[in-house]
Parts: sequence; structure tokens; C-alpha cells
Amino acid sequence: MNSLVIVGTGWGDEGKGKITDYLSKKFDICVRFQGGNNAGHTIKFNNNKYALNLIPSGIFNQNIQNIMSNGMVIDLKALVNEIDILKSKDFDCENLHISDRAHVLFPYHIQLDEIFENIKGNDKVGTTKKGIGPCYTDKAMRIGIRIGDLLNKDSFYKKLSQNVEYVNKLLSIFNSTTFDVNELYNEYTSYANIIKPHIKDTSLFLMNALNENKKILFEGAQGIMLCLDHGTYPYVTSSSPSAASVALNCGIPPQSIQKVLGITKSYATRVGEGVFPTELFSDISNTIRETAHEYGTTTGRARRIGWLDTVVLKHGKRISGITDLAITLLDVLTGFEKLKICTSYMLDGKEIDYIPSTIEELNKCKPVYIELDGWYEDISNVKSFNNLPKNAKNYIHKIEEITGINVSIISVGPDRKQTIEK
Ligand code: GDP
Ligand code: IMO
Ligand code: MG
Repeated sequence: MNSLVIVGTGWGDEGKGKITDYLSKKFDICVRFQGGNNAGHTIKFNNNKYALNLIPSGIFNQNIQNIMSNGMVIDLKALVNEIDILKSKDFDCENLHISDRAHVLFPYHIQLDEIFENIKGNDKVGTTKKGIGPCYTDKAMRIGIRIGDLLNKDSFYKKLSQNVEYVNKLLSIFNSTTFDVNELYNEYTSYANIIKPHIKDTSLFLMNALNENKKILFEGAQGIMLCLDHGTYPYVTSSSPSAASVALNCGIPPQSIQKVLGITKSYATRVGEGVFPTELFSDISNTIRETAHEYGTTTGRARRIGWLDTVVLKHGKRISGITDLAITLLDVLTGFEKLKICTSYMLDGKEIDYIPSTIEELNKCKPVYIELDGWYEDISNVKSFNNLPKNAKNYIHKIEEITGINVSIISVGPDRKQTIEK
């Protein structure tokens, strides 16, 4: 198996960073294929904790190459800061490659994100306010500025001038502060000088690697329920975290994708607005939030908590071709007498096991649950599947049975070592 895609199956924060870091030692290359610094991927090893927003989670493995692909939107100020932090911790980032086709996220995108959210009022998406939507909008409008554009000073200045003129008109409608093109140009040229050695055609780089039979790990950000096309639209992000988007977002043939590992928590979380069928408002959700410290890595917002939803998992299986599952945060479910798993929804008196396309229908869906016995033993140091308590094993087997997907990895704590291969 030469290529593996890691996708979040829910609304993000499933533990993709931890699993990517854990698996990266088995690969030659790790690629982040979409999103920007709306992502927050947490990695723990040797008593250190790292939070990555843009750089692939393979970066802690000095032997592998790390790629930020053309599907990403890159806030260069945030990237330079992330590189500096890693360098200060002795990860030199010389093995980092940045696509010349990735889009540059400017401060005006961040300002527009905030303005559009405010206009929506109660209907706001609850974005991370990192400018992701407006940057992808510019890409689709064909006015985006790409990383490669930064290297041609004259044309970069021309493109930036046109954009700033347009953006300033837009901002002034909302009485918002405007931008000075020369200040932006100088700032972004200085970032370009820092990242210049890392910029390349990463599609060619990956194609050569595929021809040489190199092993490639693709790391998604967000999760399928936040997919622009197949998520809970419009309460989604502006890219597609599905495995189907890897080929387009990396510039490689679709046939090169072989296996897809879906990452799911042992329960469900969501941060931001939008429908969440299995959401809990009880002592159980409060306990889970505090035990797992369910607060956003990027924004610090309290995450909403719910029971595991296998309708969502089956949606991910269909949309993204998930071949295996990694179940994370199983340790967090220790200590509950009973656990619930959602198996289907009731919609207008009819039982369904798919995600309806409209928010109005999804809002009406009532989860149907099965109830399982919980366990009380501390599992955070368990090293093999067989040594898990009977009811924990039963919980995993139930998920396999309902979804028809094999669980190959179980995570019982945030540390790299707290990982069981089944
Ligand atoms: P990502 O965005 O999918 O990479 O996930 P995040 O890093 O945003 O959120 C996952 C959180 O759960 C982080 O704080 C991780 O350190 C933590 N985590 C990951 N796996 C486990 C686990 O098995 N048990 C516990 N208790 N925490 C975990
Ligand atoms: P990782 O990679 C959780 C959510 C936001 C909001 C919606 C749109 O860490 O799993 P955006 O800023 O993308 O326009 O916000 O998507 N969101 C995430 N939620 N984890 C993430 O990334 C997220 N990235 C975006 O909260 O609801
Ligand atoms: Mg996260």
C-alpha cells in the first residue's frame, strides 16, 4: 500500500493530527491537501505538545518530506510564525515543500470573513474567522493570488493593487478599515523571501515520488460533515476534506489513491453553528468536555458534544471511500454506566440511514439509538486490543458491525504511544 488518505469523518477535531503523526514513520511523504489555518492539529510525544495549523503533521518525523499542496489557502504570516515555533523546538522545516499553486490568504480575507459573519447575525456559520471562505471565494472568482505569483515582483504588485482597490471599495461600504497596497506588498514580499526555498511545483514532486514507488500519506483538515459539497451546507467550510478531493488538490491521478482511513472520535463533537443530530445537553456532555478538554485548538471555543453517530460514519464511507477506521479518545468514555450509538434517524415518521441534503430536513431528524454497557477500567495504558475491557471491545465491534468498516487503530490517549493497532 503506497498511498493512504486520512479523513475526518465528522465535524473536525477527530484526532487527525495525532494519527497522521503516528503513521508518518511508515511513509516517505506527508501531504496536507486542503484548508488553511482554520485547522488545529494537536500532537503529543516525549512530554511535549504541539499545535499545527498549516504544516503537515508529518513534520516531526525528520526522515520524511512534507508538502502543503495546491488545495490549501495559506496565511503567510501564520505560516512564518509556525515555522519559527518549530525551528525554536529544533524541527528545522528543511523538509517542507509549498505548492506554487496554493492560494495566499491576506488580512483583507480575515476582515471580510468577520464582516460576512456579522451580516448573517443569528444565521452565522460560526467560522474560525481566519479568512478561509473569502480566500477560496477569490480563487473561484479567478482573482486569487497564488504562492508562485509572489516570486514575480511586478506582476505580484499589479495583482495585489487590483485586489486591494476592489477590496477597499467593499470594505468602505461596511465602514471597515481599508488596506494600503504598499504596506501589504512589502510585508508579503518579506514573507515570500523567507519561504522561497520551500516553493515548488508539488504536483511534479508527487508524480516523481509515485513513479519511484514512494509511500505517501495525505492528511485532511476538517471533516466530511464540513465538506463544501457533502457536509451540512451552509454550515460547512469552503473546501472538501473528502478523499475524492485529494487528486485535484494535489495534482495527481485519482488512481493513485488506494486506502482511506476515516478518523472518528468514540463520540461526536462540533464547534461552530449548525445542525448536530446527536448533540447532548447533560451531565454526560459536560463530563466529556472537561475530561477530554473539548475546547477548540484554533479558537478556544467550547466544543459541542454528542453520542457517536453511525449515520454520519456511513455517509463518510460512501462519500470518501473509507476502507478503515481509527477510533480516537476511547479513554474518554471510561466511567459511564451506559453508552449510546446512533444507528439511524426518524424523519417525518420514516426511518432513514442517510444524511438528507437540506438543513431543514436534517433539523427534523431524531436519532435512533442502541444502548451498550460501559466500562470503568482505566484504558489509557492498554497496548493491545485483546487487553481492553470486554465492554470496550464490544463497543468497537458494534461500530464495525453497524458501519461495515474495519477498525484498525484505537487511540486511548493524546500521546503517540497511546495508540493500539488492531
Ligand atoms: P484534529 O483537528 O483532528 O487533528 O484534532 P484536534 O487536535 O483538534 O483535537 C483532538 C484533541 O484530542 C487534541 O487535544 C488531542 O491531543 C486529543 N486526543 C487525540 N487522541 C486522543 C485520545 O485518544 N484520547 C484523548 N484523551 N485525547 C486525544
Ligand atoms: P480541524 O482540521 C473543527 C468549522 C468552523 C465553522 C465551519 C466554517 O482542526 O479538524 P471556516 O473558518 O472553515 O470558514 O469555518 O467549519 N471548522 C472546524 N471545526 N475543526 C476544524 O479543523 C475546523 N475548521 C473549520 O468552526 O463551523
Ligand atoms: Mg482540530
